[in-house]
Amino acid sequence: MVTAPVNDLREHDGAYRFPPGFERNLIWFAWRRFRPANPIFLFQHLAREYGDIAHYKIGWNHIVFLNHPDYIREILVVQNDNVVKERTVRRTKMLLGEGMITAEGAQHRMQRQVAQPAFHRQRIPEYARTMVEEAVRMRDSWRDGEQRDIAIDMMRLTLNVVARTLFATDLQDEVNELADAINRIMGLYNFLVLLPAAEWLVHVRPPGLAAFVRARKRIDAVVYRMIEAHRNRRSDSGSLLDLMLAASPQRTAESEQSLRDQVITIFLAGYETVANALSWTWYLLSQNPECERRFHEEIDLELQGRNPAYEDVPRLRYVEMVLAESMRLYPPAWAMGRQARNDFQLGDYFLPAKTTVLISQFITHRDERFFPEPLRFDPERFTSEAKARRAKFTYFPFGAGFRQCIGESFAWMEGVLLLATLGQKWKLSLVEGHPVEPEPLITLRPKYGMKMRIAERERGGRGCPPDSRRGAGATISDATVAADTSPQRAE
Ligand code: HEM
Repeated sequence: MVTAPVNDLREHDGAYRFPPGFERNLIWFAWRRFRPANPIFLFQHLAREYGDIAHYKIGWNHIVFLNHPDYIREILVVQNDNVVKERTVRRTKMLLGEGMITAEGAQHRMQRQVAQPAFHRQRIPEYARTMVEEAVRMRDSWRDGEQRDIAIDMMRLTLNVVARTLFATDLQDEVNELADAINRIMGLYNFLVLLPAAEWLVHVRPPGLAAFVRARKRIDAVVYRMIEAHRNRRSDSGSLLDLMLAASPQRTAESEQSLRDQVITIFLAGYETVANALSWTWYLLSQNPECERRFHEEIDLELQGRNPAYEDVPRLRYVEMVLAESMRLYPPAWAMGRQARNDFQLGDYFLPAKTTVLISQFITHRDERFFPEPLRFDPERFTSEAKARRAKFTYFPFGAGFRQCIGESFAWMEGVLLLATLGQKWKLSLVEGHPVEPEPLITLRPKYGMKMRIAERERGGRGCPPDSRRGAGATISDATVAADTSPQRAE
């Protein structure tokens, strides 16, 4: 990719130069065909027809879709000063307010600085014990032979983990209330993104939005209760909530609102993503018996029947490779968007300010140039050697650049420990006939949940038939066919 200095081009031809793409405006051409409710169809089409970079317009807005590691690096790292989060992310302000995900500039820097110590590598080991305790609690509550919606179980588990580790709060019965309210909002998400002037309509409350307002109120109530309880305890456990309270000592309406926004952002970012990664992982293991056998074998060998601990994480290499491969095929954060502040150069193209730039982990992670036989579930893609051979910015489940996920190390450790603790005792199989389809909302969720049968394992992992290695998309509609930012552990 050759990049000419911006000024050269501007002086030279004075006009913008757009990548290939739809000639006609998407608003009246392909809108119906690609079903806006599932933008993955549109992204797949763009990548197939136009390759590394594609352009289209919706109304007056220019949009480019990127599917090449050089372009992805250029936007997320090299030109990050020239971009802000794009409109659909900004829409999430209706729920998240001005938290770390939606804030920009000085406000974002300040919030990241306040939270950083809670995510420091030295803090992460402290969280391991709580993570395992929560997983053991769930492991012991499951019964042999029962059917469960694993997507719901994983949500409850990760909600409790975030509440206890980062907010020093035991949610107890409130976990169900919170999970229900968030589910309701997620269900409304696409509607909210597409609805013109939703931020304003929320005050008028047409039928769909009334449900949103009610759910948001329930979430706020739990969050405010948690903040208040923490204040009253005057704890100084060094938890993230303590750090946030210390950085916001005044109690004006504005600072209370800001505190609420910061708390709710970490809550949502920290549990939904991990829960989805785990649900997809259980599903993929159940479809790939040889991988499942190796997964159980490693757990048995490394743990010898005791509960996992922080020190075991580096030894549970295969469990981590399984998780990495699962997030390749079903990246919980399945797309990211930015909007340019000023005119900018991207490869041979010159694009106007306000252009929206879209990048999709779901599409790039399934590109056969970077991952041969992309639909095959194969954790061996994440051995150290395989990772070293691969181009950077082809695998980026946690984003990249200065807005890269703050919780990445936390998430890797949590994922490995929860999988190992539950996998130690149980084998999960998809309930026959249960439909599996990814739904691209704020995160990539299993649309119909994940109904699985729980069976107690014979230790030693006997009983799994040899490999049948079914593709990840085998039971799923075409919708599913669907960098190095270095996931410090995955790449
Ligand atoms: C598998 C788990 C996770 C995945 C796949 C994931 C993915 C991501 C991605 C892709 C971004 C960047 C979004 C962008 O640049 O537009 C991000 C940002 C963020 N994540 Fe995560 N995340 C995960 C877990 C967590 C956890 C456990 C936490 C906290 C406990 C967390 C907190 C955040 C926050 C606060 C941001 C905003 C960072 C900023 O803008 O400076 N995430 N995450």
